[in-house]
Amino acid sequence: MPIEGEWIGEARNGEPKRTLDIACADSAGRDWQPESLDGVFTDPPYFGNVQYAELMDFCYVWLRRLVGAGDPAFSAPSTRHAQELTGNENMRRGLVHFTEGLSRTFSRTAAALKPGAPFVFTYHHNDIAAYFPIAAAILDAGLVCSKALPCPAEMGASIHIKGAASSTVDSVFVCRRPQDRDIPEPEVVGDLIREDMLALEESGLKATLGDKRCVTYGHVIRQAVNGLAEKWRTSLAAEDKLDILARWFAAFGGHEALRELAGEKDFPNGNAH
Ligand SMILES: C[S@@+](CC[C@H](N)C(=O)[O-])C[C@H]1O[C@@H](n2cnc3c(N)ncnc32)[C@H](O)[C@@H]1O
Repeated sequence: MPIEGEWIGEARNGEPKRTLDIACADSAGRDWQPESLDGVFTDPPYFGNVQYAELMDFCYVWLRRLVGAGDPAFSAPSTRHAQELTGNENMRRGLVHFTEGLSRTFSRTAAALKPGAPFVFTYHHNDIAAYFPIAAAILDAGLVCSKALPCPAEMGASIHIKGAASSTVDSVFVCRRPQDRDIPEPEVVGDLIREDMLALEESGLKATLGDKRCVTYGHVIRQAVNGLAEKWRTSLAAEDKLDILARWFAAFGGHEALRELAGEKDFPNGNAH
């Protein structure tokens, strides 16, 4: 969707010059000046859905030969990295690692937001448990969730979701610091889902089970974040934070409630570890 006057780049005729800064680095390790960011827009990994480093190594080994291992970006023999924010059984990375890394990344960038500025990211997963880390990261960053918007994202033909009943929509989470905006009041999740599904249908999207699931999870997690915001303790261990979210979810009605909300009988119970 074009936005008048909006452009991305360093130079354009008649416009003051800008500086772009692209870093190939662990997002959790970077410091930002306080109140320096107009907004944060990010697309974090979908827990264990895609193994970016394992995939990228196929290209990396050839690029490395072309560019030369002397270039700092190509000095490592592989793109695999202990700090990669994915679930990966071979490298013993589970939900706790994902929670801790996302939390550090979200907290550092959110702390640098200008007052009222949005922190926006997109996410989807088949398993509600893989949303608990993102909820913990939002809460650790001192944010609440103003909106969860469904947005067509993944290509239906994408090989890593082929035949997996996965969603072709993502939930876009729009978050802010609550002092800029009060903690949003609880909303009726069923109504929000119905409105979104109708809007997606009107836009011409033929929604899959995965799509409905994604829309449902987005709204449920948004309620969890806003419901837990007031009493959230960032000092707890990641395991305890995940446990708090699991207990919130159980009190919400658990998988049975999700099945009902999405109007599905054969809703899986998920498999994130
Ligand atoms: C969902 S993808 C984003 C894809 C991107 N929107 C695009 O269109 O290319 C998540 C990305 O996060 C990267 N990533 C994983 N762990 C990271 C970390 N610790 N720091 C920075 N990026 C990381 C992955 O390599 C992957 O490229």
